Amino acid sequence: MADSRLLLDAGTRAQLWRKLVEALETYATKLQNWRVTPALDPARIRSSLSRFDFCAPVDPCEALDFLVEGLWNFQTHTPHPRYYGLFNPAPTTMGIAGDALAAAFNPQLAAWSHSPLAIEIEQHLVRAFGARFGYDPARTDGTFASGGMEANHTAVLTALVHKFPEFARRGLRALAAQPVLYVSTEAHHSLLKSARMCGLGTDAVHQVAVDDNLRLDPKALASQIARDRGQGLAPFLVAATAGTTSAGVIDPLPAIAEIAAREKLWFHVDAAWGGAAALVPELRPLLEGIERADSIIFDAHKWLSVPMGAGVYITRNTDILDKTFRIAQTYMPREAAGLDVIDPFTHSMQWSRRAIGLKVFLSLAVAGWDGYAAAIRHMVAMGALLRAQLEASGWQVVNKTPLPVCCFVDRRHPEGRSEAYLHKIAMHVVASGKAWISTTRLTGSMPVLRACITNYRTQRTDIEALIAALDEARNQSR
Ligand SMILES: Cc1ncc(COP(=O)(O)O)c(C=O)c1O
Repeated sequence: MADSRLLLDAGTRAQLWRKLVEALETYATKLQNWRVTPALDPARIRSSLSRFDFCAPVDPCEALDFLVEGLWNFQTHTPHPRYYGLFNPAPTTMGIAGDALAAAFNPQLAAWSHSPLAIEIEQHLVRAFGARFGYDPARTDGTFASGGMEANHTAVLTALVHKFPEFARRGLRALAAQPVLYVSTEAHHSLLKSARMCGLGTDAVHQVAVDDNLRLDPKALASQIARDRGQGLAPFLVAATAGTTSAGVIDPLPAIAEIAAREKLWFHVDAAWGGAAALVPELRPLLEGIERADSIIFDAHKWLSVPMGAGVYITRNTDILDKTFRIAQTYMPREAAGLDVIDPFTHSMQWSRRAIGLKVFLSLAVAGWDGYAAAIRHMVAMGALLRAQLEASGWQVVNKTPLPVCCFVDRRHPEGRSEAYLHKIAMHVVASGKAWISTTRLTGSMPVLRACITNYRTQRTDIEALIAALDEARNQSR
């Protein structure tokens, strides 16, 4: 049969699924005994691929084995409990199941009539997350996105269309003045990239100074807006961050909301990681003011631990996605015309789209808000433990946040604040395979080591292992 190599026969499929499930279960149960980091050996990887010339077919189980073994050997294991990295989670079991179903049923999320359940699930989730942030579910719209980058890009576009309606049809050249937007110097660079991709250029992003605690300084924001207006520029958006990438800091949302309202700017909150605090009653007050945002982005593939990618853009402006993304055409399905439903391709920059929400839905349905609150609470407690153990071992934690991100320098070494020394420490830890940490610079100038609890399976013994790996790196660097 012509399709036999694509579909495979029932016996082969059964064998393949068994092997696949075994591989998933082995990864889930044995990963903590494995190295966190791979050998970075491009020549070896490329030579292992050279046997695949795609002329001679490979046995399905053999191909699967190749990939499983290769992923074990050549991956920084972000799901590892000693991966202290950049918000990449250990995926939930239900999330893996949801993603497998998305691949197998392959729902097409462009038109409502093609995937009514998957689309309604996503809208249900958008309203549920919006409600956790304080939005009225009856006045909430949103779209799933590949991740925080696309969601932030969506925010910049919707803010532009809101402030300059002619932009949607006639573009930036139709505008009388150069639009500018505001972020803090600690904001994620996806906002700069978004400005470039919107045709604004990165110079249109005015990076506002932060205070001693790395939070956007509202006074500096107000002065910058006044200066810009004086120069004939057209401020249209301020983006606050709830959980900065480097230091896990939350900008003063109420003060920024106030300025945005006074200056008639679109108020956006990038809560890609820290937004999960909304799920934990005792952390929820940290996000006070987020309910005043015109738009919020939130990544379920960060602190909700679903497999990548799962960004969400949520807005309380129920027209704006339509105004931003609807394009007239004649070929899309029309079976749902007349129903009170939305075709996602009219509310998103994607057209054909994967069912991103299924993995989020299954994870949340099974864990519930309480299950997530418990997991996040555990990670926050591990963050506090890490902070205490770092201090006890002569490392100095320099950022202040209740969220589990530690930025630190070495108090016991004369070079303990130098970039070269801190980089050497991070590289030593990474090369040891015992943990993954990184370096960053706060306010663009202060080098620090960075370790973040991003895994619900990280335990006290994992924290102790990191401290031991750091101490060993320090001893080797003397
Ligand atoms: C605060 C913040 N916003 C946006 C992003 C971009 O998200 P993504 O990597 O999902 O595109 C990140 C990524 O870490 C982030 O930390």
